[in-house]
Amino acid sequence: WWYHRFLRCFVPGIFLDLTFSPSGRLGFSSLLVLQDKWEQIVGQDSTLEIFQHITLMTLDTIMKCAFSHEGSVQLDRKYKSYIQAVEDLNDLVFSRVRNIFHQNDIIYRVSSNGCRANSACKLAHDHTDQVIKSRRSQLQDEEELEKLKKKRRLDFLDILLFARMENGKGLSDKDLRAEVDTFMFEGHDTTASGISWIFYALATNPEHQQRCRKEIQSLLGDGASITWNDLDKMPYTTMCIKEALRIYPPVPGVSRELSSPVTFPDGRSLPKGIHVMLSFYGLHHNPNVWQNPEVFDPSRFAPGSSRHSHSFLPFSGGARNCIGKQFAMNELKVAVALTLLRFELLPDPTRVPIPIPRIVLKSKNGIHLHLKKLQ
Ligand code: HEM
Repeated sequence: WWYHRFLRCFVPGIFLDLTFSPSGRLGFSSLLVLQDKWEQIVGQDSTLEIFQHITLMTLDTIMKCAFSHEGSVQLDRKYKSYIQAVEDLNDLVFSRVRNIFHQNDIIYRVSSNGCRANSACKLAHDHTDQVIKSRRSQLQDEEELEKLKKKRRLDFLDILLFARMENGKGLSDKDLRAEVDTFMFEGHDTTASGISWIFYALATNPEHQQRCRKEIQSLLGDGASITWNDLDKMPYTTMCIKEALRIYPPVPGVSRELSSPVTFPDGRSLPKGIHVMLSFYGLHHNPNVWQNPEVFDPSRFAPGSSRHSHSFLPFSGGARNCIGKQFAMNELKVAVALTLLRFELLPDPTRVPIPIPRIVLKSKNGIHLHLKKLQ
């Protein structure tokens, strides 16, 4: 419990501390690498499958912000196998939930899907082990330790490495890896889904895209720099981001084991101990909760508009809601603002994405967009 309370205070700060220069300017090197790559590609062929590229970019961002990683994940081919493992696990977890025989651990372990899941887990664990090992060995270095002491705040991995439990012992390797795994996964696949679907929503709603671009141009000019304060000064863009998160929630649902029975207003009830799935996708598309739910209408999130406190839950609700919400919203805003300054986003009518629920919301056929470089 103490650990989660502690992280909830700490996470909103990691984006601030690790990507801001003392002048308050935001660092966005991962995004620049992506945009430069896009600029080169759209010179040859203007249609792109954006999800894969964005996933590498968000992995790059979380590796830099939370794990002190130096170098670029996007330029180093070795990270592709980690991304592939996460993609396989996304599919495998989903197909396991839908197969009654695979609920049994022994049957699952000997099935072909179980074997695939095992090797994907091993690959993902090797990646996180490598990240921990490399930071541990950096910290053996006096100079690196000095740098660390001067930091206003430690990053996520450093906190875990220095953490002491009540008994004075550090986290075990297994516990450490579990925490790093969670952050590595939650910190990049969700934001990749969020950014990709927001770009698609803006591509299919050009009038809203243009209004956001105008707002960002008047705030940032040519976008050579962006500051922490700017992030609170893009109300229309924020409304569009929220509306895209409503229609395409990056985490389409969560599951819970009931610790006590739940009784509904009509008298039906669910017993303690069963597993229930809660669909945010279903909630966000429910016509009893949202009028014309399929229509992209950012005015639903205009300042002063009213709605039920639990009608919009992209980051879940209650005690176990998303720790990285603030971090994620900042990353989404920076990605949208700087991309709209450099590119016009247009849909590819021959390849309309088909949303599929996995651990994060994916598209069966990828997300293909035309990108037009702006002068
Ligand atoms: C658009 C991006 C994101 C969305 C939509 C999102 C959504 C969610 C949701 C719905 C949950 C609840 C899961 C459950 O109840 O089973 C969750 C939990 C969590 N998220 Fe996020 N998330 C995002 C980005 C991030 C980022 C960037 C980080 C890390 C920096 C992060 C870290 C976490 C962690 C650690 C938890 C577990 C919290 C706990 O169990 O107490 N998330 N997220």
